[in-house]
Amino acid sequence: MLSESQGSAPMEHLNRYYDTDYVSHQVKAGEHRQTIGGMWDKIGQMQFDYLRAQGLQPGSTLLDIGCGCLRGGVHYAAYLDAGNYYGIDLSRDLLDSGYDIELAAAGLQHKVPRENLRDTDAFDIAPFGVRFDMAIAVSVFSHLPASYLRQCLINLADSMKTGGTLFATYFHCPPGHDFNTPLRHPAGKLSHPGKDPFHYREEELVGAAEDLPWRLETYRSWEHPRDQWMAHFVKIDQ
Ligand SMILES: C[S@@+](CC[C@H](N)C(=O)[O-])C[C@H]1O[C@@H](n2cnc3c(N)ncnc32)[C@H](O)[C@@H]1O
Repeated sequence: MLSESQGSAPMEHLNRYYDTDYVSHQVKAGEHRQTIGGMWDKIGQMQFDYLRAQGLQPGSTLLDIGCGCLRGGVHYAAYLDAGNYYGIDLSRDLLDSGYDIELAAAGLQHKVPRENLRDTDAFDIAPFGVRFDMAIAVSVFSHLPASYLRQCLINLADSMKTGGTLFATYFHCPPGHDFNTPLRHPAGKLSHPGKDPFHYREEELVGAAEDLPWRLETYRSWEHPRDQWMAHFVKIDQ
């Protein structure tokens, strides 16, 4: 596990997904959809629609970072050419439930080689040996400090085509709010500077990409039901 640079309160786990016994128990109980936050149809569809609007094509290669049990993955797998969808997640149990239950139910296992789903909590992306057109991380960095976003950008840089974009959701801390105090979002979520769920300012987004071959292109609200925002990082030549 990476070090937690912004941690203030001691925590047993950085986020609940690191509690492998909990996740395993949930998956065995058939609760994998709830474990990744529920809203299966809504958030699955909206992330797919977002990438389509951003230019995702059937021939695109896509990396789904923190893909969990494939809430978005079932949509991407259905749309993309066979073999073009890849996912990483810290939880093997969630990846397996995505493959064995969700892809199977949708009749899509033939579109995703099992080795396209890799368990890693350190963004170990290079072993895929792919140059991606796009990457997406939905409700992942909301559970992680900005040091993890930076590590992700460092690792992803070598596996991303120039001009390719990482779309990453996060809880936005506006300029008027003291970053170091908890922040209540309109739908009720309380985010924090140093524990899950985390919030970031523009400063954290810019800092994550500093001196790396990435440009923070934009960040904005995207009508997420829990008020997460969306940041676009474009891979540049350096
Ligand atoms: C709220 S779920 C979202 C899953 C998926 N993106 C979706 O939209 O359904 C958060 C996911 O992030 C994963 N995760 C948390 N920390 C991670 C890390 N350090 N590396 C990779 N995945 C991580 C969890 O295992 C979980 O599957």
